[in-house]
Amino acid sequence: MVEPIDIPGAIVPIPSTITADAFDQAHTDAAFGTIMARMAREAYGDDYPEEVDPYGMSTLWTLRAFVDELKLAKGETLVDIACGRAGVSLWVVRETGADLVGVDWSPVGVAAAGKRAFTWVGEGRARFQVGDLVATGLPDECADAVLCADAIFFASDRIAAVREAARILRPGGRYAFTADEAKDGHPRSVPDWHPIIEAGGLDVVSRIEIPQWREQLTRLYEIWLENIDEVRETLGEDAANELRDEAESVGPTLVNRTGVLYVAQRA
Ligand SMILES: C[S@@+](CC[C@H](N)C(=O)[O-])C[C@H]1O[C@@H](n2cnc3c(N)ncnc32)[C@H](O)[C@@H]1O
Repeated sequence: MVEPIDIPGAIVPIPSTITADAFDQAHTDAAFGTIMARMAREAYGDDYPEEVDPYGMSTLWTLRAFVDELKLAKGETLVDIACGRAGVSLWVVRETGADLVGVDWSPVGVAAAGKRAFTWVGEGRARFQVGDLVATGLPDECADAVLCADAIFFASDRIAAVREAARILRPGGRYAFTADEAKDGHPRSVPDWHPIIEAGGLDVVSRIEIPQWREQLTRLYEIWLENIDEVRETLGEDAANELRDEAESVGPTLVNRTGVLYVAQRA
């Protein structure tokens, strides 16, 4: 058996700026949401899921892939771990007729998701609660499917995050997540999610490369930099510096990165 410590990217330190409070702030700030959405719309064009307002890289392609791969039936239960404002999973359950439980460590994200749910799926089909990627607070085997969009890499112990999804899945249920793979040797990078998924107790069903992922993200970072003065005027110096730092540090590494959607299953 491979020890977790020997699996690259499985257990890594997470920067101290990644906190629930920081995400609370981002989920609260309407000006942040407006300007980020405008720039994402410009980068993704027709693939931008306007009504979803994702906090991440989800596009219409990704949403359709989640629906196709999770194999949900009407009345079944989807759990969205690190749901944020839950646009992604609300889209999926509106398409499939499933019910939704969303979990996020940001109370502001969870409250915003709760406010949006009625207009998407009506009364009684979606609920949200505060919880962690590695400790959702949900009972064993309560989910027919689990998704995690653009968030599993925020867990310091990525195997524990998969193990938590496995714990709440019923036997035969599917787990799908989006992330990236990078063979750049950086200690936080994951070159291959297969051994992490398997160490977490699930079988890999498929690894799908997200079409246009690198091109879209490259364009997004260019647009952030083109608009950095407006970001500074609207959101302040700290927010502008953060966006600029991410664009300038991650942008050039994109040639070594691949956006992936993994599908796994509980035996
Ligand atoms: C990039 S956003 C993605 C949100 C949503 N899945 C989407 O695609 O719109 C990442 C989310 O992960 C949540 N998050 C980060 N670390 C977490 C943790 N340890 N436990 C629970 N949620 C976490 C954040 O609060 C945030 O809502």
